[in-house]
Amino acid sequence: MSAPAIHKGLAGVVVDTTAVSMVNPDTNSLTYRGYPVQDLAAHCGFEEVAYLLWHGELPTPDQLAEQNAVERAHRALPHDLVLTLLALPESAHPMDTLRTAVSILGANDPDEDDNSPAANQAKALRLFAALPTVVALTQRRRRGLLPLTPRDDLGYAENFLYLALGSVPEPAIVRAFETSLVLYAEHSFNASTFTSRVVTSTLSDLYSAVTAAIGALKGPLHGGANEAVMETFEEIGSADNAGKWLKTALAEKRKIMGFGHRVYKKGDSRVPTMRQALQVVAELRDGHRLLERYEALARAMYAEKGLHPNLDYPAGPAYHLMGFDTPVFTPIFVAARITGWTAHITEQLASNSLIRPSSTYSGQAQRAVGRA
Ligand code: ACO
Repeated sequence: MSAPAIHKGLAGVVVDTTAVSMVNPDTNSLTYRGYPVQDLAAHCGFEEVAYLLWHGELPTPDQLAEQNAVERAHRALPHDLVLTLLALPESAHPMDTLRTAVSILGANDPDEDDNSPAANQAKALRLFAALPTVVALTQRRRRGLLPLTPRDDLGYAENFLYLALGSVPEPAIVRAFETSLVLYAEHSFNASTFTSRVVTSTLSDLYSAVTAAIGALKGPLHGGANEAVMETFEEIGSADNAGKWLKTALAEKRKIMGFGHRVYKKGDSRVPTMRQALQVVAELRDGHRLLERYEALARAMYAEKGLHPNLDYPAGPAYHLMGFDTPVFTPIFVAARITGWTAHITEQLASNSLIRPSSTYSGQAQRAVGRA
């Protein structure tokens, strides 16, 4: 009998169908429920995109108003949770704080184990509402500041920026931030979404699936890359140094963060839209020198390896120029991706099958313990 083929990293393995989004690497396109992500970023607010991912259609004005009312009512965190998060070590990474917050919210939810579509949709909306408040808490704590109270007179993106940075920036910055949230919201069976589906497939609860997904997103080969990109720009120092820096880094066999993608080999469909948003932010926030480094490294990387940037490459510097600290970038990604994860959790439960792949054993041949 021949040994079964091994699909390391599950590359190219189709494990299920999904109606949430479609990534087409041949045409470099991404659609959410059939709508091109670029059109959604140009014409829709993030709350509408969240509704679309959850319900399959864009909301009517009444449906959006109803969702917004619930979302705004659940922005504030329970007082005990705030105290617990503030008691974590100051050195805790904001992703650890966020993961802990979701876990605690689950432990306090009397409906935690109710996996009905209605109960899970309610939990998804409550997490969507609360996560920006947690992310903002971590950002302010890093600057020695206490958390602010959420404002229910502001839209999702405006409130998020207000809570984290202390004021609502110019509309163009809010729009650029919202664009990043729309682009980060969903991307089919990426590592963190697949993680959430694996946990869900055991009939565990939504909070456990999201907590696990946050763990998967933290890694630098996935969401953590947006933070690593900013660290790269700091290492490079100036655009003139980009080529030399890259040659050394590649000689040391380093992975260059923000480049390459498991699915897109001809360029990430989301990058042109986010690059445009970065341009807007750079013009308003004196970011020209950072943009020069961005272009110099992208050119050098293409010349050396033929690799294109992924979404994390423009998102990292955009968040930096907006005023976020680098360790808060991946938590912002979580706040956006909660929409996609929870849409997938619902889809997984609707036609569940335990996800449990096989492996080929490569250890010791069977042997005796050898004791009398
Ligand atoms: N820097 C240097 N070399 C790279 C990079 C990179 N960023 N990406 C791919 N390569 C090289 C690999 O070394 C390998 O070369 P080899 O064949 O000579 O060994 C070849 O390209 C194929 O790379 P793999 O790692 O096998 O490709 P895979 O599809 O498994 O990896 C991944 C995709 C993990 C995203 C990879 O490109 C990478 O590590 N990129 C950096 C991390 C990053 O930016 N992650 C963000 C992903 S997008 C997102 O989460 C929004």
